[in-house]
Amino acid sequence: MIAFCIIVTFLFDRLCFNGGSDVFESCTEAFYYQKGKNDEIFQIQPLESGNISSIRCRKENDTFGIAFLDNNSEDLTLLSDSRYAAGKSFVKDIIYEDFNENELNSFLKTTTFCRQGMKIETFETSVYDQSFVFWDGLQIEPTEASIDGVCNCFISKRCIDESNIAAGCYMTGGGQQWFTDEGYFSVKSSRLPIKTLLFGDVDHESEKLKYQVWKLECLYPLYTITIPDLSTKCKENNSQKQPIIYDLMDNKLESCLYSTTNPLVLRIENSSPFSSFQIIGKEIKDCEYSITAYSNNGRVCNEIANCIFHCDDTKMVDIQIFKKIDNDQLVICDVMVI
Ligand SMILES: *[C@@H]1O[C@H](CO)[C@@H](O)[C@H](O)[C@H]1NC(C)=O
Ligand SMILES: *[C@@H]1O[C@H](CO)[C@@H](O)[C@H](O)[C@H]1NC(C)=O
Ligand SMILES: *[C@@H]1O[C@H](CO)[C@@H](O)[C@H](O)[C@H]1NC(C)=O
Ligand SMILES: *[C@@H]1O[C@H](CO)[C@@H](O)[C@H](O)[C@H]1NC(C)=O
Repeated sequence: MIAFCIIVTFLFDRLCFNGGSDVFESCTEAFYYQKGKNDEIFQIQPLESGNISSIRCRKENDTFGIAFLDNNSEDLTLLSDSRYAAGKSFVKDIIYEDFNENELNSFLKTTTFCRQGMKIETFETSVYDQSFVFWDGLQIEPTEASIDGVCNCFISKRCIDESNIAAGCYMTGGGQQWFTDEGYFSVKSSRLPIKTLLFGDVDHESEKLKYQVWKLECLYPLYTITIPDLSTKCKENNSQKQPIIYDLMDNKLESCLYSTTNPLVLRIENSSPFSSFQIIGKEIKDCEYSITAYSNNGRVCNEIANCIFHCDDTKMVDIQIFKKIDNDQLVICDVMVI
């Protein structure tokens, strides 16, 4: 028997996961082990030995689902309080599920794209006294969201109503009337979720605002990428779960898998049949590897375009990736079922 040696490095905390059988590290893993579910609340534990939260995971189509994370500011809450005369003096940190920052970061790594929204109603409160901090550290005032080119207002309603990305928010501060702004945050997905709300100048009884933060909605893949060799190792280590390589499923070129194994064998599994997939390396334009892929009926998948493969409908494909230069490191960033 040939002793195999696998050196795989990820931007990833752990390989073999020993979670209990009804506790999962992600919605993807929950759907992988509990096949046939469409809309379910699962016990999710993003970090080994960390907090466990009940999270709703809902299937959208054959390849993606949406996870809904709730938070501590979902009820429309009135703020009008003599203690908060100064701008941005009221500070509200948003807590998601039972997760601290590290746990939420780990959960986010298992998802591909998130969106989130909120509602804010203002009465005699100025835009310049309110501020929003996102998970990536970006802090903006309500009309400073143009940074990502989505809309000048930090939430989308007025932008959509007027079909104008240069539109500000409805809130102006004056006018002795209520203004309502709501909708999804006008920042790119990688900045989400919202982390802190800072409100102020709501000390006079005529100055007030109401706020409500919506659930964080994140897409997660229903397919999995695993390394069969590694799964064998995990079983030897008594892990009940095989490691899913989220870095290859997150649609992000910053998180890749680096391997010196030649060939590297990856397995794609999907609960519904699929027929095409794409492999993305560091250099997207250049498929710099030699690849053979077999579906579980033993058929070879054909490369129909650069690094895009087509097979007969199948639920599982094993891909062997050979490096062209032997002393090179393989760098694979994403494997996408398309
Ligand atoms: C198996 O366990 C050993 C000892 O705890 C550890 O060093 C090794 O990395 C584990 N293997 C895998 C594939 O996680
Ligand atoms: C599944 O839904 C996601 C999210 O709405 C979408 O991005 C993706 O293209 C859909 N896939 C298919 C095969 O329809
Ligand atoms: C978020 O809001 C929902 C609905 O109000 C509530 O059930 C849940 O407990 C809240 N989550 C947190 C972390 O406070
Ligand atoms: C997660 O668990 C730790 C330790 O049990 C606790 O200190 C922390 O507050 C928890 N996080 C949340 C958001 O409850």
